[in-house]
Amino acid sequence: MMNEGLLTAAYIVASVLFILSLGGLSHQETARRGNIYGMIGMLIAVFATIFGSQVTSYEVLAVAMIIGASIGTVVAVRVEMTGMPQLVAMLHSFVGLAAVLVGFANYLDPASHFEGVEKTIHEVEIYLGVLIGAITFTGSVIAFGKLQGIVGSRPLLLPARHFLNLGLGLACIWFGVEFINAENVAAGLIPLSIMTAIALVFGVHMVMAIGGADMPVVVSMLNSYSGWAAAATGFMLSNDLLIITGALVGSSGAILSYIMCRAMNRNFLSVIAGGFGTKAGAVGGGSDDAGKEVVSTTVEETALLFQDAKSVIIVPGYGMAVAQAQHPVSEITKKLRDKGISVRFGIHPVAGRLPGHMNVLLAEAKVPYDIVLEMDEINEDFPETDVVLVIGANDTVNPAAQEDPNSPIAGMPVLEVWKAKTVIVMKRSMASGYAGVANPLFFKENTRMLFGDAKASVDGILAKL
Ligand code: TAP
Repeated sequence: MMNEGLLTAAYIVASVLFILSLGGLSHQETARRGNIYGMIGMLIAVFATIFGSQVTSYEVLAVAMIIGASIGTVVAVRVEMTGMPQLVAMLHSFVGLAAVLVGFANYLDPASHFEGVEKTIHEVEIYLGVLIGAITFTGSVIAFGKLQGIVGSRPLLLPARHFLNLGLGLACIWFGVEFINAENVAAGLIPLSIMTAIALVFGVHMVMAIGGADMPVVVSMLNSYSGWAAAATGFMLSNDLLIITGALVGSSGAILSYIMCRAMNRNFLSVIAGGFGTKAGAVGGGSDDAGKEVVSTTVEETALLFQDAKSVIIVPGYGMAVAQAQHPVSEITKKLRDKGISVRFGIHPVAGRLPGHMNVLLAEAKVPYDIVLEMDEINEDFPETDVVLVIGANDTVNPAAQEDPNSPIAGMPVLEVWKAKTVIVMKRSMASGYAGVANPLFFKENTRMLFGDAKASVDGILAKL
């Protein structure tokens, strides 16, 4: 067993490594190093906890760790890059569930009972931990369902839903007072259990009410909640490292939610209130585009266009991740750059299904970082660009966000690809993107549709080049 001094020192080292990890993850060049810091920090944290004084049975711990590590390894090895958001949502739900279970266990444990003010503080910690944990748990399960396509992405808008939320919130406060004032553990269990049921329902309702286009905010928001749930668990267990780690995850998730809201030009409260993406556009074309034809092109024509171009911008989206087309895309980039053509990438903050999804794929395929630009850095350059290649992006290049005030995505900043001389859009069909909104880009005069799987199309262009 580790003495307390050593345990504290190990926790401090782990905390510092977690902070360095977050710092590293904020730049692509240092992301790998950031991950390594995080892994070492977590290893130290796990070992320090195992050898800490709170562990009473190594047998139970060993069995739990073997089962958990085996499931985790199999899932992590098997998961496709396109399945990562669902996996992250599922992992958030585990943190929430753990906070609920630890809260109940802690309340029932006679060894962790206090008197007077300490008792009240401890019970507030338990109540808040269970509350945040339960919301995170069911919210993340529904987010998992929406990302996996099991639950529809359209928002569920119950009549008087704001009053319902308000009612549930007030009920939680009322049961909280009952819980703190309960005479004994048996009496306190009743309000605690009722609040848990309410919070579970609230988690379902909150995420069900959020439309497809707002899912990026939901993913980062649940990330933040899972951090606060972990921090609350840290308070319940008097574990400083868990408090620090939870607070780091909670606050970085909150900052990410803010960045996502800004990227989508949305107010955080209105996202939580739900409803964005309510009016689904007709799949394939808005009303103005009804009857219009799209112009298709071929890999041969696209390759020819490239050869005459001086400047090219590639805009990847979720479809590039599905097709796993990043490697041939990287090769095309190299070929064109070798010919003296300027090639850059334009990345929308919510492209794909995870924050930084496209950056990860392009880094994996060894596309140089300095030609991968954020939307704000490149949006003004489209009018001077000869060819834009849109690879499996849809919502993030939808002009309706600017041109149609009635569009469900009106006001969301998008990559203004249609301002280039020619736009090639690679996708398999006329289907809409994640937000379910029709895209007038496909019908613009300077747009050519290159139908087919993105990897097959990119491979075809590469062969012609
Ligand atoms: P989307 O709008 O989702 O469109 C992706 C397009 O890729 C689809 O229209 C699809 O059309 C095409 N596609 C799929 N598989 C393909 C394949 N194998 N080959 C070629 N094309 C393929 O993508 P986006 O522009 O990246 O926008 C992201 C959307 O996801 C936004 O609405 C965003 O709000 C949402 N979202 C983002 C996040 C984060 S954090 N980034 C999280 C959750 C949700 P076809 O079916 O016709 O091929």
